[in-house]
Amino acid sequence: MTGGLDPVSPEDLPARFLAWSRHVGGEAPMYDTLCRRVAGDGEILALLADVPATQPTANVLFAAVHYLLLGGAVSPLAGHYPTVTGSVVTPDGDPWPLFKAFCLEHAPEIRHLTATRTVQTNEVRRSAMLMPAIATASAGRPIALVELGAAAGLNLRFDRYRYRYAGVGAGDTGDQRSPLLLRTTPRGSLMPPIPQKVPDVRWRRGIDLHPIDAADPDGVRWAAALLWPNQVERLERLRTAMGIARAVPVDIVEGDAVTLAAVNAADAPGDLHLIVMHSFMLNQIDAQGRESLDQALARLSRVRAVDRLSMEWLRPDEGPMLRMTRYRDGEAVTVTLAAVHHHGEWIEWLDQSSGNPLTTSIT
Ligand SMILES: C[S@@+](CC[C@H](N)C(=O)[O-])C[C@H]1O[C@@H](n2cnc3c(N)ncnc32)[C@H](O)[C@@H]1O
Repeated sequence: MTGGLDPVSPEDLPARFLAWSRHVGGEAPMYDTLCRRVAGDGEILALLADVPATQPTANVLFAAVHYLLLGGAVSPLAGHYPTVTGSVVTPDGDPWPLFKAFCLEHAPEIRHLTATRTVQTNEVRRSAMLMPAIATASAGRPIALVELGAAAGLNLRFDRYRYRYAGVGAGDTGDQRSPLLLRTTPRGSLMPPIPQKVPDVRWRRGIDLHPIDAADPDGVRWAAALLWPNQVERLERLRTAMGIARAVPVDIVEGDAVTLAAVNAADAPGDLHLIVMHSFMLNQIDAQGRESLDQALARLSRVRAVDRLSMEWLRPDEGPMLRMTRYRDGEAVTVTLAAVHHHGEWIEWLDQSSGNPLTTSIT
């Protein structure tokens, strides 16, 4: 269902790096530069022969290098990583020769990490996008929440954070005692429906192929390695959120969400409104798996209503979108709720009236 572990074909590798360079754009200038150099370097590309095709290859390579540096690998390359040095001042000069030398010096570890680890970026600020969507779906009812591709389950604990939406004067929403404040900026003409009280989650469960245990330093280091090294504030958010996760345990089942989603959702108490959500995970599931997941949720809806929230980046020309599918008696109706920034910097709530072409259904 997940596309198996077939490696990426070598001739696709340069294009993957060039595409990722466009993806990171101005947000991670060093990665942008390095992507274009790796795309033309046979020695570095040869290290990636065993990366599964379902994995974003560039993301995994950069995370492997970052992981080794965060673990204390000694190299002048570390100076280019504010997340490692703690200083935003980076050396002048091209990091590429240092990066290449580091990869070749650590070739066995890089081969192993890129072949066995997967992209599990758990961005907690996505909760600021999901929270108004959960409020929309639940409409004040107590909920059972299932998260597919939960990673460490940081977004599954969305009710444990405090939220500040720029320009919304009513003060912060969420858990006022939370050590984690998530700030985001609403865009466009419509304000997201920010509830006065955070939705009432009475039951929750995550599913992930490789759950990250917030109490496992190695898992937390891998999650940190997936962040971009110039974005120190994301690392601070991640560390705070992992601290909350250690204090608030949730059940994250290990396995394939395609086969496990409906059966786990069916465990939720019947008097709660059931919401199944996922963010930035469908790109790791093939078309057949996505179809099976959709059918499984539609079948479940013959027994109980299911609302699905999907925050995914499925089409490069469109950007990440937040959609809600209401499954009722085997039928599904989807609306697009919002366009969002992939790491939660902004949210643009959309007009969901039928005249809006963006509200037509793609799950
Ligand atoms: C990029 S991470 C996103 C994590 C989290 N949803 C977020 O937005 O912060 C994708 C997650 O989906 C998980 N994943 C990918 N395919 C999966 C599958 N078939 N079943 C369960 N989890 C899967 C990965 O292990 C990873 O933890």
